[in-house]
Amino acid sequence: RYVQAENSFAEKGNHKHFMAKEMHEQPSVMAYALNNYTTPDGLKVEISGVDLDFTRYDRVTMVACGTAYLAAHVAKYWFEQVARLPVEIEVASEFRYREPPIAPRTLAVFISQSGETADTLAALRYCRDKAETILSIINVPTSTIARESDHALPIFAGVEIGVASTKAFTCQLTVLAAVTLLAARQRGEIDSDREAELLAQLGTVPGAMVDALALEPQISSICWDLSKASDILFLGRGAMYPLALEGALKLKEISYIHAEGYASGELKHGPIALIDETVPVVVMAPTDALFEKSVSNMQEVMARGGKVLLISDAEGLASASDGIWKSLRMPKVDPFVAPILYALPAQLLAYHTATTKGTDVDQPRNLAKSVTVE
Ligand code: G6P
Repeated sequence: RYVQAENSFAEKGNHKHFMAKEMHEQPSVMAYALNNYTTPDGLKVEISGVDLDFTRYDRVTMVACGTAYLAAHVAKYWFEQVARLPVEIEVASEFRYREPPIAPRTLAVFISQSGETADTLAALRYCRDKAETILSIINVPTSTIARESDHALPIFAGVEIGVASTKAFTCQLTVLAAVTLLAARQRGEIDSDREAELLAQLGTVPGAMVDALALEPQISSICWDLSKASDILFLGRGAMYPLALEGALKLKEISYIHAEGYASGELKHGPIALIDETVPVVVMAPTDALFEKSVSNMQEVMARGGKVLLISDAEGLASASDGIWKSLRMPKVDPFVAPILYALPAQLLAYHTATTKGTDVDQPRNLAKSVTVE
């Protein structure tokens, strides 16, 4: 037993949990993943050995489960806004039994850390002779999903042990962002200067992640309060909406506190009825074109006694801190890359709430790392 304990300590480095170690690896694994999808000068996306031609597709269908599905949800915003390519996103367990018609000139994308999730694999097999191309984005290059795809793009996250996915999510997003830029260039939606500029913005994220990780002591003290709540809401707009969903998913997975993620604009269509002083509301709102709209949703929450935790950059906090309960000051990054960076506070809030409650962070009850049966 002594030897075993020593070993598991070694594998976790100096961290108490695999999840903590994996969260802290994100600056380096993201930088590594990005390097693998760019030319040596860093100015262009390059996917070696894979001949993807986005002029052959009129639409994209992305299918996944859990956190990988939320990576697809972010990618939908990117593909539609930057590459002007329509994207449908699908939860694999629904898609496979709905058996939807697949239009010609469809690129089908399957996102899976393990590459073995049963529903995602079944969805891939359904698309086999229907989609123009089957592309997978996986962490395990030898996995079944990788082997059964026309092209498999590794995310280079390294082994992920914590059941709640962290570094795989940010690496999935990194690869999806690179593929978005490739699609946008091939479809004539961005020129080489814009591609280089957006790649440079992606290149700033690992450093910003280091700064976000440095917020840990502050996050841990906020989580002392969050751990006493029985319901928590997460709100976000645009590509921050899937991040609100991810924040809520992580929190329920490992802290067992009921949490829901909502598109901020949907607040008045239901969840506002839940708001009182016992329900913390986490607002994920970097300054972007939709910031003012998020602020007015936040004010609706505060007018009903809700306790707002605002996660934004210095500029956002300077203009919208009145009446909020707590804030987290994130580094300022380009709105295009913000969803990758804001994954970190989402993860850290869940992690510190769970450790405050004393739940088993790496092996949450009833959950499996890889769901290979239905
Ligand atoms: C399980 C894991 C999640 C993961 C999901 C999809 O539910 O607990 O962390 O996001 O499966 O797994 P995959 O390996 O397909 O990404």
